[in-house]
Amino acid sequence: METVVSGIRSTGRLHLGNYFGALKNFITMQQENRCYFFIADYHALTTHPDPKALSASVRSVLAEYLACGIDPNTATIYRQSDLVETFELYLALNMQAYLGELMKTTSFKDKARKQPENVNAGLLTYPVLMAADILIHKAHKVPVGKDQEQHLEMTRTFARRFNHFHGMDVFPEPVAYNFGKQLVKVPGLDGSGKMGKSEGENNAIYLADAPEVTRKKIMRALTDQGPTEPNSKPPVFIQNLFTLLGLVSTPDVVKHYKKTYADCSIRYGDLKKQLAEDTLAFIAPIRERIVDIENDTALINRVLKDGAEKARESSSKTLQEVRDLWGFKPF
Ligand code: TRP
Repeated sequence: METVVSGIRSTGRLHLGNYFGALKNFITMQQENRCYFFIADYHALTTHPDPKALSASVRSVLAEYLACGIDPNTATIYRQSDLVETFELYLALNMQAYLGELMKTTSFKDKARKQPENVNAGLLTYPVLMAADILIHKAHKVPVGKDQEQHLEMTRTFARRFNHFHGMDVFPEPVAYNFGKQLVKVPGLDGSGKMGKSEGENNAIYLADAPEVTRKKIMRALTDQGPTEPNSKPPVFIQNLFTLLGLVSTPDVVKHYKKTYADCSIRYGDLKKQLAEDTLAFIAPIRERIVDIENDTALINRVLKDGAEKARESSSKTLQEVRDLWGFKPF
């Protein structure tokens, strides 16, 4: 069995793109691997967030992941700040992380440009903390997107350096978890390729959005005058609506609208209404679970406590090894 570690951003709510793109795969992944999922709240401090907002955000992120099917009895889910072992490993890894390589990191250069008034050391060593998150459990696989590849590469470098220095294979060199064909690309509502909040609020359908909001967003999705030639190829933004329909509706429904597109009788209003209703039906049970979990403080605290305890079994072992190797032990 392989060990998988995944850090979840502590801000930003989940949208359908996250759900079909990553979360659904997490659910299967947790069955087949030793999975550690954690909410990266310490990483969030690089931007000096409002503490109350951060805390609320961690709570809702946790509720959403649980509502989507991350099972705390199968996987280990915890809050990064609860696993103090990570921070000692981070400190140790910092001693072999060099200023030059850290300053060259793309994410550091981006952030330094975006927040010139707050170019702090935490920002510089962000990749070291991420490496500590991963190496503390000796992970083999890390499910990350393209934007995190460089950080993962640095994690391998730090692991190799440590192993080489001590002449021991302490850390495996983690690779990206490749979902391959299972990776579904979910288009947004604005005609652009991808559902995501960076393309604007109205582009993404959030799991926690109120039904009216979702309905409105879908009804406002970009369309055109409709096909004039039978059997023509739909433009991308129409194709996107079919793709979304394919995710939430039955095959018959999709077939029906494809057929009406082909014979030019399609009415986009109907298509969008159908898409809105089927999306809402799909989201409703998840949304209910989100609300239930978010309101259940006792449950949330229990999950976090158990998660931290389970994570500690692996992290304390790793840290002990690291301390021994550095000679931090009784004389
Ligand atoms: N940097 C990741 C992101 O922005 C979050 C993260 C922190 C992470 N630590 C990690 C991801 C460890 C995977 C493994 O999305």
